[in-house]
Amino acid sequence: MGEKLTLSVIKADVGGYVGHSSVHPKLLEKAGECLGESKFLVDYHVTHVGDDINLIMTHRKGVDNAEVHQLAWDTFLACTEAAKELKLYGAGQDLLSDAFSGNIKGMGPGVAEMEFEERGSEPVIVFMADKTEPGAWNYPLYKMFADPFNTIGLVIDPNMHEGFIFEVHDLIENKKVKFSLPEELYDLLVFIGAPGRFCIKSVYKRDGTIAATSSTEKLNFLAGQYVGKDDPVCIVRCQSGLPAVGEVLEPFANPHLVSGWMRGSHSGPLMPVSFENSNPTRFDGPPRVIAAGFQIANGKLIGPQDFFADVAYDGARQKANKIANYMRSLGPFEPHRLSLDEMEYTTLPIVLKRLQDRFVPIEEDEAAAAKDEE
Ligand code: 13P
Ligand code: 13P
Ligand code: MG
Ligand code: MG
Repeated sequence: MGEKLTLSVIKADVGGYVGHSSVHPKLLEKAGECLGESKFLVDYHVTHVGDDINLIMTHRKGVDNAEVHQLAWDTFLACTEAAKELKLYGAGQDLLSDAFSGNIKGMGPGVAEMEFEERGSEPVIVFMADKTEPGAWNYPLYKMFADPFNTIGLVIDPNMHEGFIFEVHDLIENKKVKFSLPEELYDLLVFIGAPGRFCIKSVYKRDGTIAATSSTEKLNFLAGQYVGKDDPVCIVRCQSGLPAVGEVLEPFANPHLVSGWMRGSHSGPLMPVSFENSNPTRFDGPPRVIAAGFQIANGKLIGPQDFFADVAYDGARQKANKIANYMRSLGPFEPHRLSLDEMEYTTLPIVLKRLQDRFVPIEEDEAAAAKDEE
């Protein structure tokens, strides 16, 4: 076995074309140019989902490497320049600071990275979503690595039968915890059923081998105000003691409800789509996910295979559109509109302030009314 390989997926929205729907081809071209100039990348692939640019890179420098993060940052800065020239919407949206300090985490872009020994055959899937948040991966990652009704390998593959370790991050308290599945399945679900706060960061085999990892940056927590949703990415390795490609894709056949959509403030179905159909339209949605499959060969990214372009996902899209119709019919009412504490922006404080004098304690009002009647 040779030197370890690192797969880094770093993403940012640095300007939408048109509105928040897509990325202008000039920005993708620019990103490709920037990565092409790098001396240390083994390979790269630039793509987008909706208005988010995704840099998929392989190298030998490990995770959290300053040079790799700097390269991604400089690439996003160059793309921001191109976005400003075209006056694209929200140019530079996800870059929260002007000064880069060695690690791109906490600076706006989303990051998912894993280091591993390349196997005899190394199939990986990179999932990328727009108009949603990191917790969107909780349901599918749970299905892939813990649900035998999704992943038959958990039952019949001796190399998977022992289960997996789930690392969960509490994005509010900034803490992490590991659960061993299947023994701690119920404990895990207590947390990951609340995806606005608890996110599955990574999944490991019991011997510590990395199986999956996701981006968990919460932009609005970092910025302290609404600057767009934290459209997330997730990397999953497949086959040979890990879920088969088809087991990894299977959870997306049942579009689950995620937070995001219009103004980052609504709940809606996550629709699996082809690369070509990844641009949100209706009510800036519905939220979308693409799946790019690669075989990695000596660090080279052989692919991508556009998995959700397949007709087998037509039914999921139809279902998502039906759910979208129903959710839209609720208009500004919860649970279509997110609860107050989850909303990315709200006029509530302003309206409350304007009406503050008209609010009186309920009991006092009743007492006053009773007195009036005497
Ligand atoms: P093959 O026999 O085609 O390699 O498939 C094995 C497998 O794991 C299918 O899910
Ligand atoms: P993005 O997070 O994809 O930029 O979308 C923001 C938004 O407000 C959509 O309505
Ligand atoms: Mg945007
Ligand atoms: Mg986006």
